[in-house]
Amino acid sequence: MTLKKIAAIVMAPLLVFALVGCGESAETLTMGTNAAFPPYEMVDENNQIIGIDAEIAAAVAEKLGMKLEIKDMAFDSLITAVSTGNVDVVLAGMTVTPERMEAVNFSDSYATGIQVVIVPEESVIASIDDLAGKKIGVQSGTTGDIYCADEFGEDAVARYDNGALAIAALKNGQVDCVVIDNEPAKNFVAANEGLKILATEYAVEDYAAAIAKENTELLEKFNTALAELKAEGKIDEIVGKYIK
Ligand code: ARG
Repeated sequence: MTLKKIAAIVMAPLLVFALVGCGESAETLTMGTNAAFPPYEMVDENNQIIGIDAEIAAAVAEKLGMKLEIKDMAFDSLITAVSTGNVDVVLAGMTVTPERMEAVNFSDSYATGIQVVIVPEESVIASIDDLAGKKIGVQSGTTGDIYCADEFGEDAVARYDNGALAIAALKNGQVDCVVIDNEPAKNFVAANEGLKILATEYAVEDYAAAIAKENTELLEKFNTALAELKAEGKIDEIVGKYIK
């Protein structure tokens, strides 16, 4: 028997196995997020999680031949969820920070975020310096929370489970301002009358996907898929759908 024939006999069942494997039971990529952060993640009228992160994750999953499943949870439980394997990856407009890098690995960055300040239109707050002595609404565990608590003290921040609740508190007068990422800020200001975003930027940051430290295989695959999607213009296309 020639080598070619032996190879054919050995390979044939493997090939069938591979094809069936692909069609029947695509592996699941489980993404954790906090879906109250438009336009990165939000829940639509059909109770589906949509947004830039959901679409980027779906495009990556497709490239990896995997099926995407999204789990919605509190923002401040996402790092634990991914490092304990409860989810495979976190896409949540999550900022790369040195502290988080101690617990997880981050993919290459796919977007920039800017911490901004939302105030009532008639507010006396005009710049970051004016935040001293004021009550600042934040989403618990976010970079806005961390920076404000560091700079203005623990007592200065009022923590909410998500941005929408922080905005509600601002409208009720329970806080004097809200510090949050710029794109969600634009969404919240557009959806709520009487609010504005200060022109001063508090911090500029990189968003990336978080993956468990030990899952270097997924990190590599994720980065390769992301690079391809960037080169194909797919990331710009997704972002352009949500940010005009
Ligand atoms: N970029 C900020 C951070 O990483 C806020 C992200 C909030 N994301 C969300 N899906 N709620 O801390």
